[in-house]
Amino acid sequence: MPAATRRDLPRASSLDADADPGEAAAEKPPGWAAARQAIETGRYWVSPAGRRPRWRQKLFRCALFAFVAAMRLTGLYGRGRRNALAPRLVELELQFDTLPQAFDGYRILHLSDTHLDMAPELAGIAGAMLAGLAVDTLVLTGDILGAHDAPLHTAVEPLVPLIERVAVRDRRFAVLGNHDPAAMADALERIGFTVLLNRSTTVERHSEHVVWTGLDDVHYFYTDAARAALDRPGIEGFRIALVHSPELADAAAAAGVALYLCGHTHGGQVCLPGGTPLVTQLTRCRHAGRGLWRHGATTGYTSSGLGTGWPTLRYGCPGEMTLITLRRRP
Ligand SMILES: [Fe+2]
Repeated sequence: MPAATRRDLPRASSLDADADPGEAAAEKPPGWAAARQAIETGRYWVSPAGRRPRWRQKLFRCALFAFVAAMRLTGLYGRGRRNALAPRLVELELQFDTLPQAFDGYRILHLSDTHLDMAPELAGIAGAMLAGLAVDTLVLTGDILGAHDAPLHTAVEPLVPLIERVAVRDRRFAVLGNHDPAAMADALERIGFTVLLNRSTTVERHSEHVVWTGLDDVHYFYTDAARAALDRPGIEGFRIALVHSPELADAAAAAGVALYLCGHTHGGQVCLPGGTPLVTQLTRCRHAGRGLWRHGATTGYTSSGLGTGWPTLRYGCPGEMTLITLRRRP
């Protein structure tokens, strides 16, 4: 593999994630901002399974308070916190019949659900694990923010020294998660990501290419435009989809996507012995809740995520960063 180059990134100290976007603004399809704002300020979340009222989330929040209280009473809280600060680097090799020859050996670092405002110390821990790593593309599949009402810079600034540790040859792609407001798209562009909001682009190598399709979050912010971008990328070729959640796994298979990378579930964050998640926060496609999966001819990977939402606890389900090598099946 040719030597990777390290693109210049703004220093965290000079980053103002809440500033006017200026020149580094994400490419927004017509109507996207208005549709996003309508859901952000409305009374319902929208997924491919339909609308659901926001108040249901408050019930889940009450259950979480009870869970945290139980962990404190049983003395397991500290262990859960230590678990949450001990991510793994998972390495995968995935084979495809249709991968262009020029992309045999292509390396993707997949980050998801960084939520660094909840635990900024994770950036240093993860950065040390990634030091010296060289990849072709770095992808971030949403939920940069943890607390919905936190300022963006509390989640974006710790991300800068983390991604600076990785030499990236081609691109840094990102999509938004259900915790990320629309303004996160421009904040990510300012630190060197190309944010794919219901659109596709290509990466070329030796006159061959792969097609990358990125969708806005579909767990809270699903629109017909997301489905249309998945169904009709407007570019032929080997397809990789970046979506925050696996809830469109079946649609991706129908659309001919070869590889679907996502997160959202945190792998359950709390799992029974054997790794069975208690909760996946999925409205559909629950078979794709964690790790490697297949749906039709589509191969998918659901990252357990680097960080956590509240509470910052993990049991039986470590956080992860995933290094994926693409191989053309001989
Ligand atoms: Fe998340």
